Amino acid sequence: MIALPTDSVLADAAARIRAGGVVAFPTETVYGLGADATNAFAVARVFEIKARPAFDPLIVHVDGLGMLATVVGLLPDPVRQLAARFWPGPLTVVLSKAACIPDIVTAGLRSVAVRIPDHPVALSLITRAGVPIAAPSANPFGYVSPTTAEHVERQLGHAVELILDGGPCRVGVESTIISFLDRTPCLVRPGGLALEDIEGVIGPVAPAPRGGEAVAPGQLPRHYAPRRSLRLIDSPREVPEKERAAAALLLPAPHPDATGFAHVELLSDGGDLTTVAANLFAALRRLDEASYARLYAVRVPEQGLGRAINDRLRRASAR
Ligand code: TXA
Ligand code: MG
Repeated sequence: MIALPTDSVLADAAARIRAGGVVAFPTETVYGLGADATNAFAVARVFEIKARPAFDPLIVHVDGLGMLATVVGLLPDPVRQLAARFWPGPLTVVLSKAACIPDIVTAGLRSVAVRIPDHPVALSLITRAGVPIAAPSANPFGYVSPTTAEHVERQLGHAVELILDGGPCRVGVESTIISFLDRTPCLVRPGGLALEDIEGVIGPVAPAPRGGEAVAPGQLPRHYAPRRSLRLIDSPREVPEKERAAAALLLPAPHPDATGFAHVELLSDGGDLTTVAANLFAALRRLDEASYARLYAVRVPEQGLGRAINDRLRRASAR
């Protein structure tokens, strides 16, 4: 059931979390499917509802640095600097984990991914529950992440008793994940906070190791994917005129050659990447739910939020 986050609904949601239940809730990035991160049985239910493989670890959400200190070891200096600057916000850090976080949350890893979300409903839920909340995006494994309560309801409504409705997500793509397990911080997943902003505070961040442990499935080649086949292009000009009448186009900004298509999903009026990111997943869903023979998406510049947008488009289009 979808419910507006009134005081009594939030109290009920927090009670469900404390009792080992699962609640879907909004964050600034995407909707999450939350359970008490210290309760292995509750977390198992999240994996079950999502049909998520057990090798894919979850992100633990906390309401502040006090709660953070209960789930991780000591904070390295660069993490303190990032926290001061970007939390609450779309940044997740991977650190060594404390004993209260069960193995199922981290897929057996000795590290844990944590963040403080920038959404009043998420923060209030965590504070009222009084426990850290483990939450993956609230979608079936491998599918496009939800950015509205209705997206969650349509796919997981049968299995989730309570979906808190916080309106459309402001950021629209998942958090940026940085690992601090090695001396040099490393980018695990590009996301809603630009890499340039992070490097501006802590200096160079290494790219994700290639072909290493296949643990971080936001890194599976095919992920965040619609069911229909999607092709990634640099310009609408690449699509032959005769194919356009049966094709739909995902277009970051108006383009003079985007003519003759059966449908165009325009993601922004002027190419602003923040707007493109915010509209991306809802548009992918609309295209997937319609019945065009072919889907095309035009890449954005590989900078700022463009890294996350292109990353999701690449994975959505992978076979
Ligand atoms: O914005 C977000 O991050 C959203 C909202 C709900 O907070 N959550 C989200 O969770 O995107 P999810 O489950 O879809 O992605 C979690 C990803 C994993 O797939 C993995 O790549 C990474 O976080 N991860 C989690 N724990 C990790 C760990 N210990 N080491 C490396 N990567 C980890
Ligand atoms: Mg996900």
